[in-house]
Order: sequence, then structure tokens, then C-alpha cells
Amino acid sequence: MRGIGGSIALTSLAISANALIHELLVGTFGTKSLYTIEFDDEALTLELAANTSVPVSGSWIALSHDKANLYTTAYGQGNSTISPAFASYTLSNTTEITHDVTIPAGGNCTATSIFVVADPNPPHAVYGVFFGDNAGCGAVLSVDEDGVLNAAIQNYTYTSSGAVHGTAFSPDSKFLYSADDRGNALWTHSIDATTGEVAFVANITAPTSGADPRHVTVHPNGKFLYVVLEGSSQVAQYSIDQSTGIPSFSNVTYPLLSSGEDAADFWADEVALSFSSKFLWATNRGRDASTLGYISVFTLDADGAILSQNFLLATTTSGGAANAVTPSPFTDRFAALTDSSTGFVEIWELADDGSNATVVAHLDLVDGGCCANAVWYS
Ligand SMILES: *[C@@H]1O[C@H](CO)[C@@H](O)[C@H](O)[C@H]1NC(C)=O
Ligand SMILES: *[C@@H]1O[C@H](CO)[C@@H](O)[C@H](O)[C@H]1NC(C)=O
Ligand SMILES: *[C@@H]1O[C@H](CO)[C@@H](O)[C@H](O)[C@H]1NC(C)=O
Ligand SMILES: *[C@@H]1O[C@H](CO)[C@@H](O)[C@H](O)[C@H]1NC(C)=O
Ligand SMILES: *[C@@H]1O[C@H](CO)[C@@H](O)[C@H](O)[C@H]1NC(C)=O
Ligand SMILES: *[C@@H]1O[C@H](CO)[C@@H](O)[C@H](O)[C@H]1NC(C)=O
Ligand SMILES: *[C@@H]1O[C@H](CO)[C@@H](O)[C@H](O)[C@H]1NC(C)=O
Ligand SMILES: *[C@@H]1O[C@H](CO)[C@@H](O)[C@H](O)[C@H]1NC(C)=O
Repeated sequence: MRGIGGSIALTSLAISANALIHELLVGTFGTKSLYTIEFDDEALTLELAANTSVPVSGSWIALSHDKANLYTTAYGQGNSTISPAFASYTLSNTTEITHDVTIPAGGNCTATSIFVVADPNPPHAVYGVFFGDNAGCGAVLSVDEDGVLNAAIQNYTYTSSGAVHGTAFSPDSKFLYSADDRGNALWTHSIDATTGEVAFVANITAPTSGADPRHVTVHPNGKFLYVVLEGSSQVAQYSIDQSTGIPSFSNVTYPLLSSGEDAADFWADEVALSFSSKFLWATNRGRDASTLGYISVFTLDADGAILSQNFLLATTTSGGAANAVTPSPFTDRFAALTDSSTGFVEIWELADDGSNATVVAHLDLVDGGCCANAVWYS
């Protein structure tokens, strides 16, 4: 359905009318490529549309609210000559990607950038965190009128021994929640609606010692928050106090490994909501290449409380450093899964009732560093 029109406007019309081709962008660990891939939701195929050379590896990539910009980590992979920083790209379209700037951030922290997310609400500031030794900082980056990263306007400290691996906004962007993997904690900061700067509100210890919160996501009604616990291979549910915005653990956890397996052999990865927020996806990774990862889906009630864990399926590989799951933004049916042990992206299809899922498309992207995370552009 692509390219039948003589103009870009006609082509986009054809795409939206038929809704067949969806574009995704994929980052890497260590290699300097950014991939554009296309998923045909009728033929169930994945194809490489562009391989864009970039100056820094984006081990985590995030789109701006209007998809005009892409922000990425400048992943240092333990290479101390690479300073903590975030890269900013302009997307004319998904195959015309221009690097604008790479901005140093983190203040006194010297560890590599590990995660970045853009506020969907004004002033659309960008939030970055760091991982490794001397990583207990976060950075707030401003953007210019074109959405290009401007400057690290705030470098704030969690604790000197902490290292946050993932952050998420409350639905109104009043709060930023941070999963502190090294510090085994969950942090709440308030966000200034004018500047985007953050202020400490609360920090709480994870449910168990060594649980190690890695990523966090918030239900759109703001009542529940979910944390993937990397160390204990679990998904934990928190309820959010509606007056203070502070989450508390609601004693609900689900396993991301089979009974009898040892959490020490895994490092759980991701937790993310489906398009309608009726389902929650979560993944685990095998620490060893021979230990398969897991993918799991939960059904949520209208408030966001977890009703059931529907399945726990082994993934086809360990996932490497990835096994990052990104549900599609247009239907509950599809989610993208990335692997860096051999290098591929897969599309998983969820059954209508959420009871099971299957791989329906697979694309190898073998460059020695792919694939970190994927974002759906369309
Ligand atoms: C570290 O990064 C610098 C700058 O990109 C590069 O020149 C150097 O080769 C890297 N070192 C290692 C060991 O990868
Ligand atoms: C993307 O933008 C470039 C430059 O503006 C243009 O040459 C190319 O045709 C565009 N691609 C699509 C798929 O619209
Ligand atoms: C934050 O840290 C970066 C260096 O990592 C520095 O360039 C920037 O000026 C700092 N921002 C502020 C507001 O101090
Ligand atoms: C960075 O270190 C300097 C010197 O120790 C200190 O004055 C400053 O407050 C620190 N900055 C942050 C953001 O922690
Ligand atoms: C919370 O922050 C305080 C003040 O920085 C710190 O002493 C404490 O260790 C932190 N607790 C957790 C669980 O991170
Ligand atoms: C969670 O369990 C603890 C210890 O058993 C108990 O004190 C607390 O009330 C429980 N909280 C909830 C929300 O059920
Ligand atoms: C669920 O799907 C997997 C393939 O992803 C398949 O192997 C398995 O048999 C299915 N389970 C059920 C209960 O249908
Ligand atoms: C993308 O391009 C880079 C640079 O030319 C190359 O090294 C890499 O192998 C390419 N990736 C794929 C999947 O072909």
C-alpha cells in the first residue's frame, strides 16, 4: 500500500486508510546504527527499510510527543572515554533521520547514560538516567522549539550508591517515578510544569532485598504502578496515593520464571502496558546464552489492578541484554520484542482474550550490537 500516490500526502492517506504498514525504529548496544523496520500487519512480515549511521550507540531510544524527534542514550558500554550524554535526532520521516546534537548530562556522575524518556506534556522536557559506578544521578534536559535537545538544565542526585535504570511519568506528568536498580528503591519526584525540573518527594525500599527495580510503568488512570524486579524476576504492583502521588507496595507480585528456577540465572527486563491498558506485558532474560528468557501477559481490571497472569512463555533465545517488549500503540494485538544475543526483532501476536501469544514475524539484524529497544513510529 506504500508509494502508490505521487506525493507524500497521498502516500500517508493510503497508509492510514489501510493501516497495513507500521514503522518501528530500533537501537543497538555498541554498534553505530539506527534501524527503521516495517511491519505489515496483514502479511505479517518485517522488513528492513533503512540502516542509518549514527555517531553514538542508542541503547535506549524514545520518541518525542509528536514523533518529530528521537532521543537516545550515548551508550558507553564501560568505555570511560565516552562521557555521559544523550543524543538528539530530527525525524523528517522514519528513513530520513538527522543527528542534531549530543548533550553531556549528569553533573558529577561519570557513568554511562542508560535510559531516556520524553515528557508527553509541556514543556516536553527529556529525562535521563545513568548506570554503572558513580551513576546515582538523573538529568533533566530542555528542548528547543523544534524539539531538539537544548541543555541539561538540572542534574540531580538520588544517592551516591544508587543507579536508576528506568523512569515513568504519572499520567498528568506531575510526578516522575524512578526504578533504582542498584539502590533497590523506588523514587518519586514532582515535576515543575513550567521548567520540567524535578524535586524529591519520597523514596521507598523495594519489597525484598536484592529485588532490584529496573523498569516502571504507570496505568493511565494513575491508581497503579508496576515495577519489574530484575533481581527477583518478578512483576510488583504498587498502588498510588491519590493525594500525595506516592506509590506503596500492595503485596502483589508475580513470577517471571518457572517454579524451581533460580532468579540468579535471570535478569528481568521490562514491563509495559498494551494499547488499551487492558493487558500488561513483562519479560525476563537469561543471564547465560543457553538460558531462555520469558515473556508474560497479565490481565488488568479497569482500575489497573492485576487480575491474572495469563501465561509465561519461554522466548526463543536468552534475549541477550535486551528482550525489551514494546506493545503497539494502535491495538492490543501486537508487541515488538528485541534480542541482542544473535540480533533480531520479533512481533508477537496476543490472542483476543490475552490468553496466549505467538511470534508472527521475525527479522534478523546481525551487526554485533543490535537490537536494544524498539519504538513504534506508526
Ligand atoms: C572508547 O570510545 C572512544 C570514543 O568513541 C573510542 O575511540 C575507543 O576506541 C573506545 N575504546 C574501546 C576500548 O572501545
Ligand atoms: C523521507 O524524506 C526524504 C527527504 O525529505 C525523502 O527523500 C524520502 O522520499 C522520504 N521518504 C518517505 C518514505 O516519505
Ligand atoms: C549538568 O551536567 C552537565 C555535564 O554532565 C553540564 O554540561 C551541565 O551544565 C550541567 N547542568 C547544570 C544545570 O549544572
Ligand atoms: C558536584 O560536586 C561539587 C563539588 O563536590 C558540589 O559542589 C556540587 O554540589 C555537586 N553537584 C551535584 C549536582 O551534586
Ligand atoms: C532515600 O534517600 C535518603 C536521603 O538521600 C537516603 O539516605 C536513603 O538511603 C534513601 N533510601 C532509599 C531506600 O533509597
Ligand atoms: C502487606 O503485608 C504486610 C505484612 O504482612 C502488611 O502489614 C500490610 O498491611 C499488607 N499491605 C497490604 C496493602 O495488603
Ligand atoms: C501458546 O502459544 C505457544 C506459541 O507461542 C504454543 O507453543 C502453546 O502451545 C500455546 N499454548 C496454548 C495453551 O495454546
Ligand atoms: C548497517 O550498516 C552498518 C554500517 O555500514 C553495517 O556495519 C551493519 O552491518 C549494517 N546492518 C545490517 C543489519 O546490515
